[in-house]
Amino acid sequence: MVTFDARYAAPFVREHEWAGLQNAVTAAHETLTAGNGAGNDFLGWVTLPTDYDKEEFARIKAAAARMKEDTDILVVIGIGGSYLGARAAIEFLKSPNYNAKPKDTPDVYFCGNSISSTALQDLLDICEGKRVSVNVISKSGTTTEPAIAFRVFRAYLEKTVGVEEARRRIYVTTDKARGTLKGLADREGYETFVVPDNVGGRFSVLTAVGLLPIAVAGCDIDALMEGAALAQKELCDPDIAKNACYQYAAARQLMLRKGRAVELMVSYEPNATMLNEWWKQLYGESEGKDGKGLFPGSVVFSTDLHSLGQFVQDGANILFETVMNFEQPQREFIIEEDPENIDGLNFLTGKSMAEVNRKAFLGTTLAHADGGTPTFVLNVADRQEKSLGYLIYFFEKACAISGYMLGVNPFDQPGVESYKKNMFALLGKPGYESEKAALEARL
Ligand code: PA5
Repeated sequence: MVTFDARYAAPFVREHEWAGLQNAVTAAHETLTAGNGAGNDFLGWVTLPTDYDKEEFARIKAAAARMKEDTDILVVIGIGGSYLGARAAIEFLKSPNYNAKPKDTPDVYFCGNSISSTALQDLLDICEGKRVSVNVISKSGTTTEPAIAFRVFRAYLEKTVGVEEARRRIYVTTDKARGTLKGLADREGYETFVVPDNVGGRFSVLTAVGLLPIAVAGCDIDALMEGAALAQKELCDPDIAKNACYQYAAARQLMLRKGRAVELMVSYEPNATMLNEWWKQLYGESEGKDGKGLFPGSVVFSTDLHSLGQFVQDGANILFETVMNFEQPQREFIIEEDPENIDGLNFLTGKSMAEVNRKAFLGTTLAHADGGTPTFVLNVADRQEKSLGYLIYFFEKACAISGYMLGVNPFDQPGVESYKKNMFALLGKPGYESEKAALEARL
């Protein structure tokens, strides 16, 4: 369902260089398969597509069906890995304009992914007079951004529908046993879903973290898991020539060794904007450590050809591109003839927009090669649930292989903690007194 095409990068990579990568790929594959590498207590995602909690999966579908009947707006509260996957999937499978489209499923709004008072107030305005449910998602149960938002929305629900009804309308996705949120959920009797211990936030989209909001938006989560299970089965051959996932991982590391510091994930579909964001977290948090890593950037073309295109074509040669090429459009549009042809566009008569988009992709790829930027292509069959499930697993596994090839622990995120420590200290959180004084002296 996903193939890797290096033909447009041929001027930048000699044939023997691929063979030279096999040993490193094999070593990374063996480390991952044996489960004896760094971060090996976070490998739950490897078998998740087949080895997931079926009872909970049924409860996710039941909760989604219930919300279809009793909810106008689902407010999903979470940040980072507890947010990006669900939003990426809904926008990709439905639309970035999902909430504005006619449908028989609830609107889904995301909150608690910033500390913006304006964003919070705007969402409270949108909820006014609507039947609201809340899904708060936090593995640790203590992350500040979603904790603030949940405090607000819990109070909002209790005030607008009463404490009892609020209990029915709050769904909690968190650790199975630990954390403030779990304690609160148990005390109040909220329905809870589990973030498995051995699955890190950015690898958690195929758990209840992603699946509940995705199901509420009317997406087929059975097909999503089916696609991921197919990827789990297919993407395990260590032979680089036979494994598209490992080809992609190897290509990334090859580009890094050649001095390309930035991978630009490219899509020609605006629906993939948030998928790009999810991918950026997956790779940025997994690889950007110990002074190493590729910086993951993203663009949507042709939109960004009119902003960043100049740099990609003609700027410093620090980039390579990976294009997610979706072979089938979700919806087609044929360009009609205009008898007057004042705009001179009649040469496009009868062509589909998808065909025009494809020519933009091919023309851009050749132009960027001429400008010194290599492009790799990931061909994805279509934009349905099964393909997305496959693609999610493809990226997760490639990330693990690429991270092990790089020599980092792909499953921790020590750098994310630094800002939190400073923020807590500056806000005067108890226990941070000495850090507070030291930081304030620097301001
Ligand atoms: O990938 C990660 O681990 C992070 O992005 C977390 O998902 C993010 O910080 C949110 O954490 P939590 O789910 O504990 O609130």
